[in-house]
Amino acid sequence: MTIQHFSLLNKTTRQQIIDEIHSLVLPISPLFTPKMKSGAKFNYQMTCCGDIGWISDHFGYRYSKLHPETQQPWAKFPPSLSTIIDYLKLQGYIPKNYQAQTCLINKYLAGDKLGLHQDKDEQNLTAPIISISLGASGIFQLGGMNRKDQVQEIILNPGDIMIMADEDRLRFHGFKGILKGHKRVNLTIRQVY
Ligand code: SIN
Ligand code: FE2
Repeated sequence: MTIQHFSLLNKTTRQQIIDEIHSLVLPISPLFTPKMKSGAKFNYQMTCCGDIGWISDHFGYRYSKLHPETQQPWAKFPPSLSTIIDYLKLQGYIPKNYQAQTCLINKYLAGDKLGLHQDKDEQNLTAPIISISLGASGIFQLGGMNRKDQVQEIILNPGDIMIMADEDRLRFHGFKGILKGHKRVNLTIRQVY
């Protein structure tokens, strides 16, 4: 199984990432509530940074070079995130030629959740997906290759890294909700092309 889950980021590093998101990302790429094709709202707020960002609206899911509300290019990767990517390469967790092209930033408050889905809007479905958990602990759901497969619950704590690679890159997964505390932020880093 090519799922790697480990605790990596100490409190200082986590705070640095949060501070950089507040000072460098949100002023350029503010949080928004995505909608499904039907018009139904997602149960959390999101934004992105990087060359391209994942969005969802009445046209459906896709990657876009522009923020859907400001119509401006996404904020750049904050330095602390680039440092983490470099470290993961150096330690052999991800390939040296991995290109971190986008980071999806999901913000969940108590009661917010994300249903089971596969990440498959990317042209490149072989590059690993890197997920970083910040803030409140929460319950991640890890399913199989089919929606009906058994789902395992994994607790993600602040500072945890989860990497889904190879045959596990396309597993169904979701987020059931935060355990205690009032806010969780999940960063999903992807190579789209
Ligand atoms: C996602 O699948 O996009 C996010 C999962 C999480 O919040 O842990
Ligand atoms: Fe996902």
